[in-house]
Amino acid sequence: MRIVVGISGASGIPYAVKFLENLRDQETYLVISDAAKKVIEYESDETVDHIRSMATHHYEDDDFSAPISSGSFLFDSMVIIPCSITTISKIAAGISDTLITRAAAVSLKERRKLIVVPREMPLSTIDLRNMTYLSESGVIVAPASPGFYTRPKSVDDMVSFVVSRILDLVGVENDLIKRW
Ligand SMILES: Cc1cc2nc3c(=O)[nH]c(=O)nc-3n(C[C@H](O)[C@H](O)[C@H](O)COP(=O)(O)O)c2cc1C
Repeated sequence: MRIVVGISGASGIPYAVKFLENLRDQETYLVISDAAKKVIEYESDETVDHIRSMATHHYEDDDFSAPISSGSFLFDSMVIIPCSITTISKIAAGISDTLITRAAAVSLKERRKLIVVPREMPLSTIDLRNMTYLSESGVIVAPASPGFYTRPKSVDDMVSFVVSRILDLVGVENDLIKRW
């Protein structure tokens, strides 16, 4: 499968890293926003270069000449993980001023699968309205919200919970968690 992965500047870089680790058999097109590059520095021991090396292709967030900027370039799904409220708001408003938001707009206009993984709390009425708007437009809003019924023993277990559900949504087989 051809999967576009956007990493925006919300907290939750471990979700993105584990997601990419589990897409090694897929063709991936990765974009890391400028804000995400800062969050990577703050909250993880990862480097931007290492995260990029996990993808088949990677692009800068201002590179509108990248293939994923055009509807004529076919891909199966796009996942923005984690997805900032800024990026959600821009997609809901139809603003495409970065490669991530442009590829999201392409996903919408071409009726392709788009999954956003927001990480924010609490949520304002504006955030909730924007997410409703996205959902009504066919976007899957899948908050980074780990369950506890699997009795996680570590942060990694909690990350696996969320990533497993996203992999299910894009159709990538995985056994990251014990299923109910
Ligand atoms: C350490 C750090 C953590 C952040 N966490 C979040 C978050 O969890 N959710 C969110 O929506 N924004 C968060 N932000 C703010 C976004 O990075 C900021 O709104 C930025 O404009 C997002 O840009 P982007 O969507 O282009 O990546 C965080 C910023 C920093 C520096």
